[in-house]
Amino acid sequence: MTRLAMRLCLSTIGMLAVAPLALADETPVKIGAIVDLSGPFADYGSEILDGMKLYLAQHGDAVAGHKIEIIAKDTTGPSPEVAKRLAQELIVNDKVDILAGFTLTPEALAAAPLATEAKKPLVVMNAATSIITEKSPYIVRFSFTLGEIASVLAKWDAENGIKSVYTLVSDYGPGINAETDFIKFFTAAGGTIVGHDRAPLKGPEFAPFMERVKAAKPQALFVFLPAGDQGVAMTKAFQEGGLAAAGIKLIATGDITDDDVIDQLGDPGLGMITAFHYSYAHPSDTNKDFIKAFEAAYGTKLRPNFMAVGGYDGMHGIYDAIVKQNGKIDPDTTVDILKHEKFESPRGPLWIDPDTRDAVNTVYIRKVERQDGHLVNVEFKSYPDIKDPDKTK
Ligand code: PHB
Repeated sequence: MTRLAMRLCLSTIGMLAVAPLALADETPVKIGAIVDLSGPFADYGSEILDGMKLYLAQHGDAVAGHKIEIIAKDTTGPSPEVAKRLAQELIVNDKVDILAGFTLTPEALAAAPLATEAKKPLVVMNAATSIITEKSPYIVRFSFTLGEIASVLAKWDAENGIKSVYTLVSDYGPGINAETDFIKFFTAAGGTIVGHDRAPLKGPEFAPFMERVKAAKPQALFVFLPAGDQGVAMTKAFQEGGLAAAGIKLIATGDITDDDVIDQLGDPGLGMITAFHYSYAHPSDTNKDFIKAFEAAYGTKLRPNFMAVGGYDGMHGIYDAIVKQNGKIDPDTTVDILKHEKFESPRGPLWIDPDTRDAVNTVYIRKVERQDGHLVNVEFKSYPDIKDPDKTK
């Protein structure tokens, strides 16, 4: 071989060595969404899913050649057993990179051990019981906790002339957090609790509770119930039981006056004071743009509510993690990115506390008013950077 031929041959080998066959890695990023799409919380699961899909539609469903797929599964909830089986199937059969969604607390708790075992980041988009994030180092929550809301409302009530309260909550995780924190912060501010009750999560009947509340003669009744039909039924029982007529005020977390069902409260809902992290009427450009896009995509049958925003913001976090890793999902890096997220959400400023992996929210005090023929929660006072009061360090 001539010297020139030898050199050409060696340089070709060299080129092959430095430029391996450029086979594009197009493995998709798969997100398993576990949500209630049938059963009593069906509207809420579909709000979460719609929020997720909207974020993806706005930002593009591929990153660095990797397609982003959402695989949605219905818990038919409230059903922790089904949620656990779905998480298992998504991990083993569908080989998802990330678990997401979680309308209800028991469903998130059921999936938590699987996230740890399989090292799958799990993004909570609603389930709001404090303990959830402590059940796996792979869980990051983009929604809220009931402690954040109840603690702020208790202080506001005590500072605004309410001295005696009866509490009524749904008898499961978020209700127990709401009750504990309301009582803790209200009594610390000088208030008195004259009674407390818990209603079953499934099929509660409110009239007997209303009789007990009326007999205890509190100045106000504090309520947490999961968003949906229960709040509407309770408000009706409150009216029919003569509590409003007896001068008892109704104060609640914003789940009762959720944007999806608020119109069903009718005139008796007007003037009701609640605390929450999201209102359809939040007066920011980010929220107005979000609502416009949501309604353009899905119509106006369901108003985008706090669950839609939870899905949208959770997907925002996931999307950032995919972009920062160029389409490749490493579980620990993903959690690290998620727990340092900070952005302007339709709800207002949102950031994740890296120590607890929980959403830090502005909590708003709101009043139900009628605007353009619809009831809305009008925010009139805000408490920024509220962390979950139940996390001890
Ligand atoms: C929950 O199960 O954590 C939950 C459900 C509905 C709500 C709030 C919390 O409105």
